[in-house]
Amino acid sequence: MAFELAHAVVYVTDMSQMVDFYTQTLGFKVADRGPLGQEPTEIVFLTKNPLHHHQLAFMNTRKDAGPSNSLNHLAFRVDSLDDVKTALRAVTEDPSASGVKPVTHGNAWSVYFKDPEGNGVEIFCDSPFHVQQPQAKGWDPQMDIQPLTSWTKETFESENEFGPIEKFYEQQTQNE
Ligand SMILES: [Fe+2]
Repeated sequence: MAFELAHAVVYVTDMSQMVDFYTQTLGFKVADRGPLGQEPTEIVFLTKNPLHHHQLAFMNTRKDAGPSNSLNHLAFRVDSLDDVKTALRAVTEDPSASGVKPVTHGNAWSVYFKDPEGNGVEIFCDSPFHVQQPQAKGWDPQMDIQPLTSWTKETFESENEFGPIEKFYEQQTQNE
């Protein structure tokens, strides 16, 4: 039985700034919104995947500031390197995002950043490789897919378990 991580609910201070950031900068849609329990508590549901009613929900009940003390980041997988680069550009151009950093774990090409309330977010696509984790190195977003793939291979091929991602997924499925 597989569990698919489907959504996270996040406490926020400034609902409109957070909804603007996730809708305008990252392209999420507001699926639903409404009062929750006693007003003025509001919940806003957001999605960027038609097969999930919501992937994120915000509740405007946050009292503290700064990053959450228990959640390092939320990660979203996208379909292609171009999608990662599009997200990277969008968050770079939005001054309410901070700490924008391209990182590769060898098995993925990612952009990490903080949203306007300091929550860590990662947007990534799979690379063609599997490699034992943890791994983290900066990558050059100017690189196209082919040179980036070659560079990723050269950078991680001496690490444990390096190989094609398909083979890794196949093994994982067999071990279910
Ligand atoms: Fe991650």
